[in-house]
Amino acid sequence: MTQDELKQAVARAAIEYVVAGEIVGVGTGSTANFFIDELAKIKDRIIGAVASSDASAARLRGHGIAVLDLNQVESMPVYIDGADEITAQGAMIKGGGAALTREKIVASVARKFICIADGSKLVERLGQFPLPVEVIPMAHASVSRKLAALGGEPRLRLKDGQPLLTDNGCCILDVFGLQIEDPQALEREINQIAGVVTVGLFAQQGATVCLLGTAEGVRRLEFA
Ligand code: 5RP
Repeated sequence: MTQDELKQAVARAAIEYVVAGEIVGVGTGSTANFFIDELAKIKDRIIGAVASSDASAARLRGHGIAVLDLNQVESMPVYIDGADEITAQGAMIKGGGAALTREKIVASVARKFICIADGSKLVERLGQFPLPVEVIPMAHASVSRKLAALGGEPRLRLKDGQPLLTDNGCCILDVFGLQIEDPQALEREINQIAGVVTVGLFAQQGATVCLLGTAEGVRRLEFA
C-alpha cells in the first residue's frame, strides 16, 4: 500500500469515533484531508465541525459541512487529526502543516484526541522530525537563541523566500537536532519562552487513541 492509501484507511476507520448529532473537531494536513472527505459522506449525521485551519475550513465548506466558530462550542466529543511523529505513549510532534496553535486549541476543547497516521509516524523517541514552534514575528531571533541554548538548531520556516506566516500571522521556527527525552517537560519549558505562541509538542495533552495505518491493516493504540 502507498502512504496515501494508509492515510486513507485510517481516515475511514476514524469515522467510527464521530458521534451522531454532535460537533467534530477537525485537524489539518493530508491525512486530515482524507478524513474530511470521509466525513462528507456522513455529513447529515453531525451538526458541523470546528476546523483547525483556514485550509481545513475551506475543504469542509466545499463539502457542504457547516463550520462553527470555536467560541460557540463548549465541548465536543472528539478531535481527529494527523501527526508528524507519535510515541507508543501517545505524545506527538505536530505542526508540519503550520497549524499547531489552532490544532492545540481545538484539541483542548475535545474530550478525546483521535490521532490518524500512517505507520511511519510511530517512533520510539520524538525529535527526528524537526520540532515546529510558532512565534510572534518580532521574537523569532530571541526565541531562536533560547532554543539553541536548549541544544536545538532552529531554522525560520520560509515560503517563496519569505518567512512563512501562519493563519495567526505568526512565524514558525523548525528546531532540528533535539533529543526529546521528556516531551512533557520540554513542552512546559518551551512554552515559558517569551514570544512563543505554541510549541508543536502535544504531550501534556496527547492522543487518546491512535489509528495507525500498516500493511497488515489499521492498528489501534489506546493511551490512558
Ligand atoms: C499540521 C499537522 C499535521 O497533522 C501533520 O503535519 C501531519 O500531516 P500529514 O497528515 O500531511 O502527514 O500537524 O500542522
